[in-house]
Amino acid sequence: MTSELDALRARIESALDAHLPASSNLSPTLTDAMRYATLSGGKRLRPLFLCATCTAVGGDARTALAPACAIEFLHAYSLVHDDLPAMDDDELRHGVPSTHIRFGEATAILAGDALQALAFRTLADAPDVTATARLRALTLLADAAGWNGMVGGQSLDLEAERRRLELPELAALHGAKTGALIRAAIQIGAIVGDPDLSDEVFDGLGEFAGQVGLAFQVVDDVLDITATTDALGKPAGSDIKAGKSTYPGLLGLDEARAYAESLLQSALALHAKLPLQHSLLADLAVRSVRRVF
Ligand code: IPE
Ligand code: IPE
Ligand code: MG
Ligand code: MG
Ligand code: MG
Repeated sequence: MTSELDALRARIESALDAHLPASSNLSPTLTDAMRYATLSGGKRLRPLFLCATCTAVGGDARTALAPACAIEFLHAYSLVHDDLPAMDDDELRHGVPSTHIRFGEATAILAGDALQALAFRTLADAPDVTATARLRALTLLADAAGWNGMVGGQSLDLEAERRRLELPELAALHGAKTGALIRAAIQIGAIVGDPDLSDEVFDGLGEFAGQVGLAFQVVDDVLDITATTDALGKPAGSDIKAGKSTYPGLLGLDEARAYAESLLQSALALHAKLPLQHSLLADLAVRSVRRVF
């Protein structure tokens, strides 16, 4: 399982490199910043989820590679902007200086903007995806990225530094800022893997993704408290410093941990009921929740 995952991750790494502009006559600094933000590291969970779902519904992992890069470009952009002084003000990412520290704020903002555009360009141009599947995938990515998805969640996250959220609102925040992109990864993988997939399986995968995505962010909140900066490659304790609304903040550490595990268990139970081929999907869900960084 591990070697299969490692092999897939290696394919994703080289596809990311290949899809990024090598350099630009217009602004080499911008393309350097885009490459830095994307290639400096990361677990690559969203592209792995996308590829694993594609094979789980009977598709060829090769079809998933360009869409997988698209989702990672969107994610990389979200991290560049998330670290900016106007947002979380974090100076370290993937164990190296955040993009705005290395390149300056203006270039970091622009690199994020350009990565978002590159995400849509990469998906629009994905080979071996039917026109209908491509359009559905683009719509899923736009919805996950926008006002009612990641960006909407980020906005509420910042607002919530000044007021305490109750659980339903916190679930909505996490579902949007983090869950939306994980759900899009899984549902885009499903659509490119089988453009004729039934609504029932598509919706079931969406529900599975929702539980995994929420558990993933609960664990991110827990690790912010329990892990070291060295292990995380990003500043530990950042949430407390910023006064963020988090699951451990609201439930306590033990209950937050138990909640993440119970979400994982219901996701796995759901997964077992779906008519899927053997794939890395369940293993990935476990790894994204029971992780140490
Ligand atoms: C970090 O996501 C941001 C959140 C949504 C919690 P990841 O932990 O997947 O980031 P990388 O890409 O692996 O660093
Ligand atoms: C960020 O959540 C989610 C994004 C949309 C980038 P966090 O702010 O908790 O992510 P980290 O902890 O900085 O990676
Ligand atoms: Mg944040
Ligand atoms: Mg942050
Ligand atoms: Mg965090």
